[in-house]
Amino acid sequence: MRRKILKYLKENDGYVSGQELSNQLGVSRTSVWKVIKQLREQGYEIDSVSNKGYALRQSPDILTKEEVELNLNTEFIGKDVKVYESIDSTNKQAKRLAVEDATEGTVVIAEEQTEGKGRRGKSWSSPPKQGLWMTIILKPKIHPSKASMVTLLAGLSVVQAINDCSQNKAQIKWPNDTVINEKKVSGILTEMSSELDLVNYIVVGIGVNVNTQTFDDAIKDTATSLYIEEGKSYERAVIAQKILKKFEQNYILFLKEKNLKLVLDTYEKNCINLSRQVKIIHHNEVEYGKAIGISEEGHLIVLDENGTEKLLNSGEVSI
Ligand code: BTN
Repeated sequence: MRRKILKYLKENDGYVSGQELSNQLGVSRTSVWKVIKQLREQGYEIDSVSNKGYALRQSPDILTKEEVELNLNTEFIGKDVKVYESIDSTNKQAKRLAVEDATEGTVVIAEEQTEGKGRRGKSWSSPPKQGLWMTIILKPKIHPSKASMVTLLAGLSVVQAINDCSQNKAQIKWPNDTVINEKKVSGILTEMSSELDLVNYIVVGIGVNVNTQTFDDAIKDTATSLYIEEGKSYERAVIAQKILKKFEQNYILFLKEKNLKLVLDTYEKNCINLSRQVKIIHHNEVEYGKAIGISEEGHLIVLDENGTEKLLNSGEVSI
């Protein structure tokens, strides 16, 4: 009932009378009032005016199952959302759920991660209330060699979602970081369990610094948040919904061709690296080149110093 009342209030801009709520939901007006009281205690700002009813003025920035699911209009990504107050890592939890019976599209979100993991064995700072720490479980019928493309899809989805609700300044730093004004606002850690020729599951872990106000000295020159860049706070549940929606759209396009062909234009338009210099590292030798595109398989296409085109993976480039 709580969920239904919240949905009703969210869908109505003006006032909804207590009587209307009680008629629609088939519960007493006292029950409606009790739910309104609970919602207020959780931080929802709800006006009440006699003869008019209730109006939702502001939702709190909380990551509850209700908040994430209510305005999520996806087909299968996020149809099952698991939310935790505190967990070691949403990727770790997603992997535990994936080997059990979690279905494709299950999403794991935590208010806080105590062992947030970054790429290349680094840790990922994941304090409560500030960011979005979320992992999507996928079980695609693809060859394991294609799994790395999913991480580019996630990077693109984060950029699209952020630009949907900010000033369009977010860009993808190939393969999957999101930067604003060249500073990192989001990172992605994709992990896979596979056999030789089939994927058991892929977990796509997405970390977004949403309302973070300060960073540790070690990363303060390279990291940023939406709050710092835009000068205002964001509702993390809304960011989560936008990312999940975009991800679903991009993932469906990927599954059609089993490559990035159908999202490549959009990816390239949003990519910060193109036309810029990159450092190519091969067998401990370093040379420089210019990034000129992204391949349908997600490689960075680089023109080396001799004008030769090379397809590089993330281990071979420093940017
Ligand atoms: C990076 O190093 O850029 C990747 C960071 C990925 C962080 C996210 S937060 C949600 C998910 N759970 C984790 O432990 N890591 C990823």
